[in-house]
Amino acid sequence: MLRFFKSKKHKVENKEIEIDRNNIPKHIAIIMDGNGRWAKEKKLPRTMGHRAGVESIRRIIKESHVLGIKYLTLYAFSTENWKRPKDEVGALMKLLVEYLRNEIGELNANGVVIKILGDTTKLADDCQKEIKDAVELTKDNKGVVVNIAFNYGGRDEILRAVKAVSKDVEKGIINLDDITDDIFESYLYTKGTPDPDLIIRPSGEKRISNFLLWQCAYSEFWYSNVNWPDFKEKDLHRAIYDYQNRDRRFGGV
Ligand code: FPP
Repeated sequence: MLRFFKSKKHKVENKEIEIDRNNIPKHIAIIMDGNGRWAKEKKLPRTMGHRAGVESIRRIIKESHVLGIKYLTLYAFSTENWKRPKDEVGALMKLLVEYLRNEIGELNANGVVIKILGDTTKLADDCQKEIKDAVELTKDNKGVVVNIAFNYGGRDEILRAVKAVSKDVEKGIINLDDITDDIFESYLYTKGTPDPDLIIRPSGEKRISNFLLWQCAYSEFWYSNVNWPDFKEKDLHRAIYDYQNRDRRFGGV
């Protein structure tokens, strides 16, 4: 089984930057944008852009493993993406199924934990099965946790949590006055996951697009003009380097 390259000698540097290995963000979340524009530039169908986007996913998961990033969250399909043409929606579902089917062995061998954020009950049966098997197979691994946000929306996640916590109040499982940030978080898809330190959006757009609305309260944002299929390890390095040179105050001074 192919193992990801991991060596103490590996230097995370290029001409301009050197990353501080002692200050790697624990959780990086990425809005994988620009697949359609990438395809259009090459006069290819949009779905080819998404397919090329899967190559970037491969690269970035490997690099996260090398760098020691603990959590990587990838926004792959939003609750609003159902509005896209039927064939594009179908192609995105198919890509997820193919990806998990073909790569779960290698991911598992490298200790990756696969988790899904979002309502999977609305997905096709084969998609649900592949997800269930991948999550089950990798759940006790100790490597990078890869959260794939699929049929995910930040507002939907918060609403679901509000309803679930209200039910528990009704049932007397919890008192209204005892609901804290920590308790509320335990009702979110991201239960047990630290908030993202860094949110990356390629393709030049500067929006949050319903992504991790609760969790992004103190995240650092990093944008790049590169479309997601062209996003390389060096872009991740730049994002991390920039993050390492910021002053995070979390509301303090
Ligand atoms: C946004 O670009 C991208 C998406 C809505 C889909 C992202 C999905 C993948 C990269 C592949 C999913 C597969 C797996 C294995 C999780 P866009 O289509 O909005 O691009 P545009 O703004 O240039 O049109």
